[in-house]
Amino acid sequence: MKVLNFGSMNVDYVYQVDHILIPGETLASKERNVFCGGKGLNQSIALAKAGIPVYHAGLVGEGGDALLDACRQNDVNTEFVHRVKGPCGHTVIQVDKNGQNCILLFGGSNRCMTKAFVDEVLDAFDKGDIILLQNEVNELDYIIDRAYEKEMMIVLNPSPYDQALETCDLSKVSLFLINEIEGFQITGEEEPEKILAKIKEKYPEAAIVLTLGGDGSVYQDKTGTYHQEIYKVKTVDTTAAGDTFTGYFISSIIEGLPVQEGLRLAAKASAIAVSRPGATASIPLREEVENWNV
Ligand code: RIB
Repeated sequence: MKVLNFGSMNVDYVYQVDHILIPGETLASKERNVFCGGKGLNQSIALAKAGIPVYHAGLVGEGGDALLDACRQNDVNTEFVHRVKGPCGHTVIQVDKNGQNCILLFGGSNRCMTKAFVDEVLDAFDKGDIILLQNEVNELDYIIDRAYEKEMMIVLNPSPYDQALETCDLSKVSLFLINEIEGFQITGEEEPEKILAKIKEKYPEAAIVLTLGGDGSVYQDKTGTYHQEIYKVKTVDTTAAGDTFTGYFISSIIEGLPVQEGLRLAAKASAIAVSRPGATASIPLREEVENWNV
């Protein structure tokens, strides 16, 4: 079984600010750092750091050399990472004194996917292989349809949620990883129990991990429901905490770990990520997660 992550790769320009800007405000930032990021790349690197061989499929534009280097340094397979003309995907991220962030996304090369590229990549994968997706690349509906035809297991983190997701046939998804906001956007419900019930009603075959910020996370499938608390740490930067959780939780499924153990591993890994600056740079190695004493 192979693991493919078809996803975004961004250069993150991260600005330290006292508070997140309000409309019309001008504010001097205290520091600027440039990190490798993008939900897709973060999740591939989380999988690799968790010990899972992963193929990343994505497009790197001008100014994105560090993103390819990050894949190579972290043992992410780059056979399906192509270079394209035009600006690379990038973000402008504000991180405030409490470690909370807000992200302005420029899709750039991540929005240059073509059906021909999707076909070329998926031709190398087969029934039973896992495909992980987020919503920062174009052609998401086509990728889902083609992966489903091939009988791959589709895992979707529908983030950031926008209208593109409404063109996707989400009944083809085997596992959703969502937060409460995305849960509301998909189901129209605000309370976690109602989100879970609605997902079960709409997509009865799918499993779901619902992350609840400070209230932890819940996993639900046909056999049951499991809850996991967060591990409390001093928050430095929440960027990529969700991606770290996603990569580590999927690694636990691939390894066949019990659900509760997978949730615990993912919660620990994302707590460590929150305690550090940056996206890919903040993701811990498996050994560190396992030896971490809370
Ligand atoms: O999930 C965090 C990521 O979202 C950042 O690395 C940024 O690139 C945006 O895609």
